[in-house]
Amino acid sequence: MKLLVIRVLLLLLAVATFARWAPSQTAPKKVIIDTDPGTDDALAILLALNSPEVQVEAITVVPGNVTAQMGLDNALKLATLANRCDIPVAGGAQHPLAQKLVTAEFWHGKNGLANIELPTRCHADPRFGPDLIIELVHKFPHQITLVPVGPLTNIALAVSKDPSIVPLVKEVILMGGSISGGNVNAAAEANIYNDPDAAQIVFNAGFASLTMVGLDVGNKTLLTDRQIAQLEAAPGPMSHFVAQVGRFLLELSRRFGETGTPMYDPLAMGVTLDPTLVTTQAMRVDVETRGQFTRGETVANRTNTVERNVLRGDRYVIEGMDKVTPNAKVCVDVQAQRFLDLLVSRLHGK
Ligand code: BDR
Ligand code: CA
Repeated sequence: MKLLVIRVLLLLLAVATFARWAPSQTAPKKVIIDTDPGTDDALAILLALNSPEVQVEAITVVPGNVTAQMGLDNALKLATLANRCDIPVAGGAQHPLAQKLVTAEFWHGKNGLANIELPTRCHADPRFGPDLIIELVHKFPHQITLVPVGPLTNIALAVSKDPSIVPLVKEVILMGGSISGGNVNAAAEANIYNDPDAAQIVFNAGFASLTMVGLDVGNKTLLTDRQIAQLEAAPGPMSHFVAQVGRFLLELSRRFGETGTPMYDPLAMGVTLDPTLVTTQAMRVDVETRGQFTRGETVANRTNTVERNVLRGDRYVIEGMDKVTPNAKVCVDVQAQRFLDLLVSRLHGK
C-alpha cells in the first residue's frame, strides 16, 4: 500500500514537472517591441527579455513619452542593463504623422526612466525603425508578433510603405485605446492621442489578428508596495531597477489618490506571453481623427452592427441593420493577480 502511494506521488510529480516545462519546449514567439521608453515601457522590455516564451528580434523606438532621441538612448540603456547588445535597437519616426508631439516627462521623469541613471554600452542599429520592421516581417513570414506599446507612428509608416507586410505579420498585440474613457482627457488614451492618424491606419490595415490591450484592463493591473517589496527582497540589477521605477510610479499615483500604479505596457507583453491572462471581445474599432472633444478616441462597436439609414425624400429612414466586420480583439477583463505574479516571478532576483 505504502509503495503504491509512493508510486502515485512520483507519477504526479513527473506530470507536474512536465506541465511546468511544456511551454518552454515550444519555439519562442518572435517579437518586435515598438516603444517610447518610458517607465512602463522599460518594465515591458525587461519582462520580455526575461521570458522564455518570446525572442525579441528588434526594439524600434517611436517618439511619445519622450522625444525620439531620448527614447532611443533609453532603449539602449535597457538593452545594456539586460546585457543584450545583440538585439537591434533602431530609431524611427521623429514626430507623429500629422501633429506635434506631446511628451510625458510629467509621468515618466525628466529622463523618461523615473530619473534613474543607467549606463549605455549598446549602440543603435543604423536602420530606420519602420524599415527594420518591414525587413524582419519578410525574413520571418507569418512568425512576427508586433508589440507596439507607444504611439502607432512607426507601424503606420511600415504598413504604408509596404502594405505587403500586413498578411505576413502573425499578430499585433498593442497597448492603446480604451472603451471606457481616456487618461489624457475624457475620451482619449495617450498612445492613440499622440498619433490618432497612425492609429486609424493600423486598426484598419487588415492584420489577421490585432489585440487591443487598453486602459480598461491596464487600470486593473495595479503594482503596489507588495510587489515592489517582493522585487526588493531578491535584488539583482534588473529587479532593483524595476523596484525603483515601481516606487517612483507608486509615489506619483499616490499623489492622485491611487493605491497602486497601472502596468499598461507590461500587460501588453504579459498578453503576448500568455493570452489566457485576458478575456477579449471581437469589435470593430475606429479611431476618431477629427472630433473636437474626441480626437484620439477608440470608437468600438460592441454589436458589430450599424443602422442602414436610407434617404427617402427629405429624410432618412432606418431600413435595417448592417453587419460590420470586427478588426480587433478588445481586452475586456484581466486576471490581474496572475499577471502581477508573472511579472514579479520573471524579474525577481534578475
Ligand atoms: C500609455 O501611455 C504611456 O504613457 C505609457 O507608456 C503607456 O504606453 C498609457 O496610456
Ligand atoms: Ca509606452
